Amino acid sequence: MPAIPEAARKRAAELRQQLEHHNYRYYVLDDPEVSDAEYDRMFRELQALETEFPALLDADSPTQRVGARPADHFDSITHSIPMLSLDNAFDEQSVLAFEQRIRDRLDLAGEIDFVAEPKLDGLAVTLRYEHGKFVSGATRGDGFTGENITSNLRTLRSIPLHMRGEEWPEVMEVRGEVFMPRKGFEALNQRQAEAGEKIFANPRNAAAGSLRQLDPRITASRPLEIFCYGWGDISGSEPWSRQSEAVEQFRQWGLRVCPELKRVTGVQGLIDYYHYIAARRSALAYDIDGVVYKVDRTDLQRELGFVSRAPRWAIAHKFPAEEAQTRLLEVDFQVGRTGALTPVARLEPITVGGVTVSNATLHNMDEIERKDVRIGDLVIVRRAGDVIPEVARVIIEERPANARKVTLPVHCPVCGSEVDRQEGEAVARCSGGLACAAQRVAAILHFAQRRALDIEGLGEKLVEQLVMKDLVRDPADLFALEVSTLAALERMGDKSASNLVAQLKRLTDTPIDLGRFLFALGIREVGEATAMVLAKYFGSLDAVAAAHEEMLLAVPDVGPVVAGHVATFFRQPENIKVLDKLAAAGVRCTESEVSTQAVGGVLDGLTFVLTGTLSGMTRDEAKDALNRYGAKVSGSVSAKTHYVVAGADAGSKLQKAEALGVPVLDEAGLMELLEAATRGGTPPGFRYH
Ligand code: IVH
Repeated sequence: MPAIPEAARKRAAELRQQLEHHNYRYYVLDDPEVSDAEYDRMFRELQALETEFPALLDADSPTQRVGARPADHFDSITHSIPMLSLDNAFDEQSVLAFEQRIRDRLDLAGEIDFVAEPKLDGLAVTLRYEHGKFVSGATRGDGFTGENITSNLRTLRSIPLHMRGEEWPEVMEVRGEVFMPRKGFEALNQRQAEAGEKIFANPRNAAAGSLRQLDPRITASRPLEIFCYGWGDISGSEPWSRQSEAVEQFRQWGLRVCPELKRVTGVQGLIDYYHYIAARRSALAYDIDGVVYKVDRTDLQRELGFVSRAPRWAIAHKFPAEEAQTRLLEVDFQVGRTGALTPVARLEPITVGGVTVSNATLHNMDEIERKDVRIGDLVIVRRAGDVIPEVARVIIEERPANARKVTLPVHCPVCGSEVDRQEGEAVARCSGGLACAAQRVAAILHFAQRRALDIEGLGEKLVEQLVMKDLVRDPADLFALEVSTLAALERMGDKSASNLVAQLKRLTDTPIDLGRFLFALGIREVGEATAMVLAKYFGSLDAVAAAHEEMLLAVPDVGPVVAGHVATFFRQPENIKVLDKLAAAGVRCTESEVSTQAVGGVLDGLTFVLTGTLSGMTRDEAKDALNRYGAKVSGSVSAKTHYVVAGADAGSKLQKAEALGVPVLDEAGLMELLEAATRGGTPPGFRYH
């Protein structure tokens, strides 16, 4: 490797500094000092130097924002401070109630200061800086654990690789929203269409899809931006005492903050801000779905704390859903993975909030009856954010004389099996099980989806062909597919066929994350979060499969319904056959030490009893929160109870606790405990066992 002349080293350092500075002017301040051409010239000069002297290269160089090499999976990152979500308010009444609750709790005289800002329709991320240097970034995931997407985040030019200035906490975690501006979204979709690639439904999906790419070079080519609005872990004490000061500090560090963010006073200030942003909504360059209000003073934020997973000091005030009127032409029934028949409204196409809608969900037969929907009716279609449009209501006065009632088919529209509708259940199901092609297609698509086994290229059209031609009956059959069979299918070539086979082969080379695998199996009611909890609790596939209902019920967050579905799944001969076939194909799962710590955390092994009325949360919410940190909540007090939480008007359970000498916490004590638990600790004076 050639030795690096001092002049080259100096020039590279200078160029990097200048390029970062211009990035900051352009992306953060929106006030560039140089032309694009001038920027490109400096960029190329730096690239040339780095090519000539590869030893100069460094992951922090602005040239590296074009994206590192693809990875084969994302590692997970556990957030040392959970990434919370927000409660929603849909009307002014709820905003008034929000402010009133805060006043009541804080016992404050005078108006409260808030920070108000748009609610961005993107993806929450956390950025970790150490000594001012960007070291890692992750998605929010389930709020507790996210995916390590550092290489992808590095490609966003509005994320500084180094903070500006000289004083930063040693560890500084900044949180914000990654989004795709509308213009960039449209241009991307146009490019995608021209290349015959996937079209994204909305900017949010496009942002999420772009950020969760295993190949950072793809992320680099997508127009993503960030606004920072909060923080997680910080070493030492917070260097600010207000939310508004924090974001000002972010700006000075070179982090991008939404320019619409404002400090407002009192509930009137909140409402005025809402109307101000609602009027500006269409002029903004990006999609928003409401505004967020946050108490400005951080000491008050701490005092208010949180309920379950949302802070008491913040709320999202959502814009109303958008609606439009159109005619219902027909109702079809789609068959899902579990055989559930979902009625789908076929509509005369109409634009709702800028998107053309020709199908909308009718949810289930009960909903159709409740709304009295008939074919031929004029209906109101509603779209909120990126959720599936729905038929909200019917305009009865306009009902044509020939409007027809919707009837549930007696036979499955796909396989012809009988349709069952259990007494008292809203959902009707095809009784065909895996004999029904629609259910097989759905089960395989579920197995292959990104959040499950992530088998790229195994899309709907392909799976339909595989199932219809009876080449694949269950997910295990995928592993027996040969290149020549695949290549002979419609819209497939040799290359995509061998890619798919190679991918499937890779899946058998390394153990598959147990949580993902359990999710992929499509056990009823077992979503990603439950699958992960089961994986951590039992450690191996065999242990989950062997668990009987009672053992499953001991798992935090698993109730009798889920426990029943899991136990039944692993007792069914067809399922056991598929699992055996998967094992024979070489599919294995990761195995881990059973770590109760990993499931719950600091309250692991403790049993609580809740009694009396809590004012700030329901008993179920308190139970969920305790479970989340590993505690069990039991219905009766015994000598084995570790703590009794007594709300207002607690009766005999409190007496029993006192008689047995079981420690009693009041609601404030419980809150303190939960708050400390989110930070991975327990409050001072709390006895662990
Ligand atoms: S603050 C403790 N501010 O909304 C507060 N969130 O519903 C946590 N979001 O996961 C979030 N714009 O993805 C905050 N200005 C904003 C936001 C915002 C969008 C998203 C974020 C979060 C979700 C919570």
